[in-house]
Amino acid sequence: MALIDIRDLYYKYPTSDTWILNNINLKIGKERVVVTGGTGSGKTTLLRVIAGLATKVYGGELIGDVKVVGKVAYVPQDFDLYVLMPTLRDELTYVLTSQGLTPSEAEIRRLGELLDVKDVLDCNVMKLSMGQRQRAAVVSALALRPDILLLDEPFAHIDPKGVVELLRALSNVDITIVLAEHKLRYLTNWVDRVVLMKDGSIGYDGPLTDLSKLDLDVEWPLKLVIEGWSS
Ligand SMILES: Nc1ncnc2c1ncn2[C@@H]1O[C@H](COP(=O)(O)OP(=O)(O)O)[C@@H](O)[C@H]1O
Ligand SMILES: [Mg+2]
Repeated sequence: MALIDIRDLYYKYPTSDTWILNNINLKIGKERVVVTGGTGSGKTTLLRVIAGLATKVYGGELIGDVKVVGKVAYVPQDFDLYVLMPTLRDELTYVLTSQGLTPSEAEIRRLGELLDVKDVLDCNVMKLSMGQRQRAAVVSALALRPDILLLDEPFAHIDPKGVVELLRALSNVDITIVLAEHKLRYLTNWVDRVVLMKDGSIGYDGPLTDLSKLDLDVEWPLKLVIEGWSS
């Protein structure tokens, strides 16, 4: 069953001269999908549409049909702004309480273990490593008990070790995950579907393995530029 079903979508911001998303058709079920493409190709805007933020927060004009089944949690690229409380324990207590749930020690530990941050639950979030801060933002989003997790460029501020740890932790998360990312080489064993954006349209939608066949001996983001898939 499709949890996300987008048909004939066009979207532009209030200040846009042209459509920023252009004739998007996309169905996503319970799977892991990476949305990739060059800077300005529309990855973030597509996540904002799925999160229901595009028109409500940014305004603008949306044409077409966007159906999203279930609860969505969205971790923006500036994940540093995502955790509001001084410690992760405070944050999880806050997020659980705000949903009318009891923030039991067992639930906080379960969440901490899920994203491998159980040892830093009581540390000041600003003192954690960037990788730990990224996982703290993700676990705070997961405390919302979403059906769909949207991550915008989760690798942008973390080192390769942090990326490996994040992906290992996310492997325990059994819900739909859509992540916008252009560092595809980390994802070969992790996602099997890639949606490639080019100028606001979908240029490719299929297995990552097939996209990799296009690859020669250059890093994928660069390859995308060479192929004309990127700005
Ligand atoms: N809040 C905004 N207001 C107006 N234009 C925006 C806004 N955010 C993004 N854009 C424009 O939308 C286009 C797509 O941007 P974005 O979705 O951020 O792409 P990506 O995430 O792939 O880099 C770009 O031309 C960008 O300048
Ligand atoms: Mg972006």
